[in-house]
Amino acid sequence: MAHLPPVDTFDYIVFGGTGDLTMRKLLPALYYRFRDGQVPTDARIIATARSPLSREEYQARAQQALHDHIPASALEADTVSRFINLLYYVSLNGAEAQSNWADLRALLDREPATRIRVYYLATSPALYGQICENLSKQGLVTEQSRVVLEKPIGTDLDSANAINDSVGRHFPENHIFRIDHYLGKETVQNLIALRFANPVFERLWTSDAIDYVQITAAETVGVEGRGAYYDNKSGCLRDMIQNHLLQVLCLVAMDPPVSLDADSVRNEKLKVLHALKPINPSEVAIYTSRGQYMRGHVNGQTVGSYLEDLGEGVTSETETFVALKAEILSWRWGNVPFYLRSGKRMAEKCSEVVIQFKSAPWTIFANKPAANRLIIRIQPDEGVMLSVSTKDPTPTDSLTLREADINIEFEKAFNIRYPDSYERLLLDVVRGDPILFIRRDEVEAAWKWIDPILQGWSKNEAPLEPYPAGTWGPEGARNLLAQSGHLWHEDMK
Ligand code: BG6
Repeated sequence: MAHLPPVDTFDYIVFGGTGDLTMRKLLPALYYRFRDGQVPTDARIIATARSPLSREEYQARAQQALHDHIPASALEADTVSRFINLLYYVSLNGAEAQSNWADLRALLDREPATRIRVYYLATSPALYGQICENLSKQGLVTEQSRVVLEKPIGTDLDSANAINDSVGRHFPENHIFRIDHYLGKETVQNLIALRFANPVFERLWTSDAIDYVQITAAETVGVEGRGAYYDNKSGCLRDMIQNHLLQVLCLVAMDPPVSLDADSVRNEKLKVLHALKPINPSEVAIYTSRGQYMRGHVNGQTVGSYLEDLGEGVTSETETFVALKAEILSWRWGNVPFYLRSGKRMAEKCSEVVIQFKSAPWTIFANKPAANRLIIRIQPDEGVMLSVSTKDPTPTDSLTLREADINIEFEKAFNIRYPDSYERLLLDVVRGDPILFIRRDEVEAAWKWIDPILQGWSKNEAPLEPYPAGTWGPEGARNLLAQSGHLWHEDMK
């Protein structure tokens, strides 16, 4: 990648510095940006965690993490060693007022207080409030300080409000960066470019031309080692739909913002969230389908059920799959269903948006033209595909039609490596650019819509349906669309 100008120098202070997110995502992302010349050579990355490690021990762990998560071809020995030199470690329990704050303060005080400080909370959200309070009491929240919050922000509206209130007591809203890593994906940002730079799409982006929309984020992995968190506090609705899929929905459905200024974009997204038709607890059987994976086959391998993944003798009603029908009460989207779907242990790893256009009202051809379909592939194989009807070139007596695709594959078209979403987001925080982060009112509006669905499910208004691992989910998901004569993308092929 071309060398980009560096951002202003900074200290990145990571709470949860020995955790999985830091090792798997944050350090590799910062390494790539360092290698591309965007991280100043005097920047510091200060990891904190409870383990009593020396700086050298932490650096050794970090180096191993880079080797585990970055292809060898991108790891030049000299660059790795210069990057590792940026790392510091302070053994500290951020949630405890009496912990070793003096060491962190001493380290931070080595640089002027005007230096940008990013406090990245890669810990349990239950600790966010206490960590922020301790930072504040220790006098470590300077004018140039920002805080980054990982999801989940709460498990419902009330708990989200409690977290936001506790952080908001110590940081102003414009210094709070709530990460949704889907917004860091190039192809998700590309939705804005595709829609608002191409009149050919935007003119058709209404219920006049669009029949229905599908947004899918399917994974082949199971809960892996996260069973305890996923089962107790999450499930698919909270883990994927409340944040990632609703954010993608907002970008697909929002009106054109007046500018690319963060608040203009976020105001438009918020209007979409406010316009979502509520799904009341008694209606969940009509609008939602939820499932849990059983034993099955993924990529040719036999895999266990969700319950087996949780451990022996465990029972659980937690959903690992959700499909739902959302409606947006607006002039633009009246009568256009937005089907959202996400699940673990599905047939393929695939995140995409499918815009199904309406059929031609009449045909002069021997066969009816298929309705156009625009597919925006978020991952993998990032790209955009438009299906069109063309003349069937095989010799026949009449002029018959055949479907073909106009297909752009971004990696091939632009010949670049697609960066991981964290690479973009981590330095946006340093730049103080919140466009790809979630504002508090968006989090609240999303929970307000999700809460009644959770309530309906807790009363068992929509039964949990099992589905074999390696499939596209339970039968209920198919029925959700069949009621309106619609099909999921894989059933159209
Ligand atoms: C995370 C969820 O936010 O997103 C995980 O907590 C999920 O459960 C992951 O696996 C999916 O992200 P991606 O980028 O692989 O689609």
